[in-house]
Amino acid sequence: MGLLLLLTSSLLFSYFYPGIVVDAQRSFTIQNIVLSIEPSTNVTRDTNVTVRCKANVSSGTGVLSREYTIYKDSKKVYTKTSSTSEDLLYPLPGARVSNTGKYKCKINIEGKEKTSEATKLTVTGLSKPVLHINNGVVNEEEEVTARCTAPGETGSIYFYFYEDSKEIRDNLVNSNQLEAKFPLSSIGIHKLSCNYAVLIMPDSFKSEKSNSITVSVKELSITPVLEILPQSKVYEGDQLSILCTIRTFLNSSVSSPADLYLSHGIKLLSSGKTKVNHSMVALAQDPGDFECRLEIGNVAKVTKKMVTVTELFSVPTLTMSPAEVFQKDYMTLTCRSENYASERIPMEELSYTLEPPDSHLTPMKPGVFSGRALQYDFNYTCVAQAKGIMKHSDTLTVYPKVSVSIPKISVVGKAVLGQPFNILCQSDTGSFPINYTLLWDYDKLSTTTVKLPLQEALFTVTISRPEEINKYMCEATNKHREAPLSKRLNAAVIVPLTDTTLTVLPNLTEISEGDDLYLICGTKGSPPVTFKWYRDGDKQPLFTTTTNKNNTHHQVSQLSKEHSGTYYCEAVNQANNVVRSEKVTVEVRMALWKKAVIGGVGLVVVSLLVLACVLYCKSKRVRVVRAAVSVWSERPPEAANDEESSVLSSEPDVEYTEVVHPQPVDTVRVPLRKGTDTVYSELKNLPHGAADHHDYGSVEYAELNGDRPEISHHLPEANNPQDLPVPVD
Ligand SMILES: *[C@@H]1O[C@H](CO)[C@@H](O)[C@H](O)[C@H]1NC(C)=O
Ligand SMILES: *[C@@H]1O[C@H](CO)[C@@H](O)[C@H](O)[C@H]1NC(C)=O
Ligand SMILES: *[C@@H]1O[C@H](CO)[C@@H](O)[C@H](O)[C@H]1NC(C)=O
Ligand SMILES: *[C@@H]1O[C@H](CO)[C@@H](O)[C@H](O)[C@H]1NC(C)=O
Ligand SMILES: *[C@@H]1O[C@H](CO)[C@@H](O)[C@H](O)[C@H]1NC(C)=O
Ligand SMILES: *[C@@H]1O[C@H](CO)[C@@H](O)[C@H](O)[C@H]1NC(C)=O
Ligand SMILES: *[C@@H]1O[C@H](CO)[C@@H](O)[C@H](O)[C@H]1NC(C)=O
Ligand SMILES: *[C@@H]1O[C@H](CO)[C@@H](O)[C@H](O)[C@H]1NC(C)=O
Ligand SMILES: *[C@@H]1O[C@H](CO)[C@@H](O)[C@H](O)[C@H]1NC(C)=O
Repeated sequence: MGLLLLLTSSLLFSYFYPGIVVDAQRSFTIQNIVLSIEPSTNVTRDTNVTVRCKANVSSGTGVLSREYTIYKDSKKVYTKTSSTSEDLLYPLPGARVSNTGKYKCKINIEGKEKTSEATKLTVTGLSKPVLHINNGVVNEEEEVTARCTAPGETGSIYFYFYEDSKEIRDNLVNSNQLEAKFPLSSIGIHKLSCNYAVLIMPDSFKSEKSNSITVSVKELSITPVLEILPQSKVYEGDQLSILCTIRTFLNSSVSSPADLYLSHGIKLLSSGKTKVNHSMVALAQDPGDFECRLEIGNVAKVTKKMVTVTELFSVPTLTMSPAEVFQKDYMTLTCRSENYASERIPMEELSYTLEPPDSHLTPMKPGVFSGRALQYDFNYTCVAQAKGIMKHSDTLTVYPKVSVSIPKISVVGKAVLGQPFNILCQSDTGSFPINYTLLWDYDKLSTTTVKLPLQEALFTVTISRPEEINKYMCEATNKHREAPLSKRLNAAVIVPLTDTTLTVLPNLTEISEGDDLYLICGTKGSPPVTFKWYRDGDKQPLFTTTTNKNNTHHQVSQLSKEHSGTYYCEAVNQANNVVRSEKVTVEVRMALWKKAVIGGVGLVVVSLLVLACVLYCKSKRVRVVRAAVSVWSERPPEAANDEESSVLSSEPDVEYTEVVHPQPVDTVRVPLRKGTDTVYSELKNLPHGAADHHDYGSVEYAELNGDRPEISHHLPEANNPQDLPVPVD
């Protein structure tokens, strides 16, 4: 039990304090480890530097094996195992810049480790580089061999070579010297030098420059030679001979093999070893210089020559006359080179041909071709030729134009008399631009030029008589010769409506109930006309109809009093002007049979009254009765009319006797007036009644005119006889 407890506790102890080994013999602990650099962390080159690693280890009696590791910039550089507790020393005799870095020390005792903090060592000072050149004099094509040394330096070193202080080469090596081969840039004296840089990540330390060595570069003693024949003025077509060779100096010593290249512009004509020749026809338009190029090793030597080639003749131009041509019209194409070298070729030697060769034009004289234009577009090119030189003109495309066809003349929309409207002139075919001219009886009114397919030649005109429209014609032209003429303009002219009238049938005064009423609307102007009948006050027309006639009617059957009212009509045609008639007032009178019945009844009543009166009066006063009877006999109902009434009413002062007795009764009246004063006075009282009667009668006529006019006349008459006896009594 006790043993188990001890074991457990020791296990726990070792778990929590791993540096202490329970074994008394072997137990130890690494207290700390320190790295130091002697004599200083900042030293100059060649200092004997020692890196010291000191570890405090407390332990028992046993001997511990200590394994030390020195790290420089995390890289293992030194390892030593020691059994003593002495410090570990890592000597860096004669320190170099490459020793610069961060040093750390690690101790490992039986698997237990401890690492010191890092300490930085800085070594300053680099040795002066030394440059060595194999040969102080080199040929142009040769390379220089140079060796740069960094005495005593270690580590990764960059070497740089300079030609006249311009860096020409650099290399990284892990050694303190580098040999390099390189050509020098040019002929003459050059100063070469070098230096180096020690690479200590992430920095590098650069040394001073080495000694400088002078190298002389000798010019290569051979050059390329370019000869071009002929040397005098070169014309197109001349044969050119070009020769490219090497000229070697007597005491030269060319080490490398040479290559020759002959080129013209960017075109390589020929190449070879010692001699290159080429022969060609001189052309004016060929660009670029001739170049003879010699390449030996790294060296290229170039000789250039420019050859000016004089044109034998200029590029021809192809022109057409006339400048524009219509299908099948005659045309002439002229091909001409403006300039030619008359000192080399006579003019006749210059020949012109037209392309394509099967063109339908015939040559008239050199460079002139004539014929009819085709009916389609055609491309022509001409070629001028002399001494084997051919020159093509630019392509000339001939676009034969189409003559304008006979134009058509028409009205756009509708032609309304007195209003502006448009006339369109149009030809179905014809090349643009086309000039359209509007004519009025062969007089030119105006011209419009149509340049595009969708443009229209529109002319705005106004006419005052329908027949004037036929005087218009149009002319179309797209060339300066004949101009086809259109037919005369033939189009309907819409005459706007005027004078719309409403006529009523039967006669206004004779419209009675039960009649058929005809409302006749008439107008002047172009059919078709839409007629509308309105009753005043209504918004909607009573009736609408469209007809090709200039008048029509609307029938109202079986009139009744409700049909009385004011009517008017409207007429509209394509000119879209609405013309309204005067208003007509229609009054529907009482039907004839009603009048007849009333009249009949009246007559019967009157007859009865008269009869009664006669009978009565006969027994009393014969004379008066006779007079009254004579009145009646002289005035039949039919004789009463409006004129008489108005005459009467216009003379209100006229005595009643005159009223009652018209002219024929005069003879009777005289005795009446003279006979009895009583009757006269009685009658004289009557004017009040008579005036009333007349007023009444006229008023009634206005109101009841169509109603029962006869009754209105008869009634007062009928009353009079009735009244007459009353005053007599
Ligand atoms: C090391 O010494 C040089 C001169 O000897 C000095 O310029 C430099 O600052 C020093 N560097 C350090 C880290 O002490
Ligand atoms: C460095 O040590 C060498 C011997 O290892 C000694 O000859 C030399 O003089 C020492 N240099 C310096 C500067 O102490
Ligand atoms: C342990 O090292 C330190 C320096 O870090 C020193 O001061 C101390 O005396 C050393 N202890 C022993 C027991 O050696
Ligand atoms: C031979 O070459 C040298 C240089 O290499 C030159 O100075 C000398 O003039 C040349 N001799 C002749 C005869 O060209
Ligand atoms: C090159 O020159 C030789 C004679 O020098 C001649 O026979 C040959 O035809 C020429 N070749 C050309 C391409 O001119
Ligand atoms: C004419 O040549 C032009 C190009 O140069 C071509 O587009 C066209 O179609 C040719 N016309 C005819 C009628 O051959
Ligand atoms: C068409 O009219 C314009 C101007 O009115 C005129 O310059 C042109 O010559 C006319 N063209 C033709 C073919 O008549
Ligand atoms: C209609 O009557 C009037 C009198 O009221 C008369 O003057 C006119 O001539 C008559 N018209 C017709 C067509 O009978
Ligand atoms: C109506 O047309 C006829 C011919 O159809 C014509 O004789 C008459 O004068 C025209 N009346 C009016 C008012 O235009």
